[in-house]
Amino acid sequence: MSQWPDTRILDLLGIELPIIQAPMAGATTAAMVIAASNAGGLGSMPAAMLSVEQLRDELKGIRQHCQRPINVNFFCHQPPAVDEQRAQDWKNLLQPYYRELGVDFDAPTPVSNRAPFDQVACEVVEQLRPEVVSFHFGLPEKSLLDRVKATGAKVLSSATTVEEAIWLEQQGCDAIIAMGLEAGGHRGMFLSDDLSSQVGTFALVPQVVDAVNVPVIAAGGIADARGVAAAFMLGASAVQVGTAYLFTPEAKVSAAHHQALRTARERETAVTNIFTGRPARGILNRVMRELGPMSDQAPRFPLAGGALLPLRAKAEADFSNLWAGQAFTLGVESGTAELTRRLAEEGLAKLLRR
Ligand SMILES: Cc1cc2nc3c(=O)[nH]c(=O)nc-3n(C[C@H](O)[C@H](O)[C@H](O)COP(=O)(O)O)c2cc1C
Repeated sequence: MSQWPDTRILDLLGIELPIIQAPMAGATTAAMVIAASNAGGLGSMPAAMLSVEQLRDELKGIRQHCQRPINVNFFCHQPPAVDEQRAQDWKNLLQPYYRELGVDFDAPTPVSNRAPFDQVACEVVEQLRPEVVSFHFGLPEKSLLDRVKATGAKVLSSATTVEEAIWLEQQGCDAIIAMGLEAGGHRGMFLSDDLSSQVGTFALVPQVVDAVNVPVIAAGGIADARGVAAAFMLGASAVQVGTAYLFTPEAKVSAAHHQALRTARERETAVTNIFTGRPARGILNRVMRELGPMSDQAPRFPLAGGALLPLRAKAEADFSNLWAGQAFTLGVESGTAELTRRLAEEGLAKLLRR
C-alpha cells in the first residue's frame, strides 16, 4: 500500500509515484516519457510543436515500450487573425539585429507555429487513447472536451489563479495543475492577461486546494525532494516538474539552452512575451533584455517568433527562448527514471520524517 499521505492522484491516474514529468514542447522526447512512466511516475508528451502525423508516430512508439499510463498535452489557444501591419512593425523593430548579423531583411518571414487542440488532434486521442490528457491555456470547446472524456481519459489543465482553478473544475477537469509564477515555459493563464494576477507556488497551491474539490498538482519551482515535500504540506496530491528534467539526457535542448542551464548561475529568469506573443519564463538573454522582457509590440501568440527565427539561426543564445523555471540552478545531471524515483523516494522520506 502506498505510504503517501494523499493518494488521490495516484488512484485517479493509476500511477505509483505522484511525480508528473511535465510536458515541455520542443524539449520532451518519447524516451523521456517512456522513462518517467516506466519508473512509476506520469510521462507527458507535449503536442504543441508536432504535426498530427508526428504526434501519432510518437505515441505509437511510446506504446511499444510503455504499457503504463501516459499523458498527452495540448495547447488550446485561439489562433489569431494575421495582422500584417503588426507583423511588419515587429520586424522593423528587429531590423538593427538583421543588419548586425548580416541576415536578409527582405526575405519572407518564416512562420512560427504552435498547434492548438482541434478535430484532428482529437481523433488521435480517440485512436490512441492516452490515459491522461492535459491542456494548457484553458480547455478546448465543449464538444471536443466531451469527446476526450468519452475515451475515458482523465483531464488535467493548468490554473495560474484561484479563479482559473474554479473555472476548470466547473468545466469538468479531473484534477488541477496549480502553476506558480516560478514555473518555466508559458504561463498557462487564460482568464486574464494581467501579469499582476500571477502568484508563486507557495501562495497559489493552498488557495487552490481550499477552493476546489478535485485533487491539485503543484507546479513551478519544484526541483528536488524539498519541493516535493513542501508541495504535499501545502495540500497538493502530486507535483509536476519541468525544468529539472531539462538536465536529463532524454531532454532535447539546443546547445545554447544546454549551456545556459548549466552556466547561467549568476543570471536570472524572467517572464517574456517576445518569443511567442504570450508570457513565458526563460533565462534572461540579450533580446529579452533589449526588447522586453515584455513588449506591447509583440504580435499575438504564436506569431511573434517568426521574425526571430533567422536571427536565432545566427546567434542562438542571444535570440532563442531558453525556457527555464526560477529553480533551474537546482538541476542536477541524472537520467529521467532516476530523477523520477529520487524525487519520490527522497520526497516521501522527508514527509514521513515530519
Ligand atoms: C522548456 C519548457 C517547455 C514547456 N512546454 C510546455 C508545454 O508544451 N505544455 C505545458 O502544458 N506546459 C509546458 N511547460 C510548463 C511545464 O509543463 C511545467 O508546468 C513547468 O515546467 C513547471 O515548473 P518548473 O519548470 O519550475 O518545474 C514548459 C516548461 C518548460 C521549462
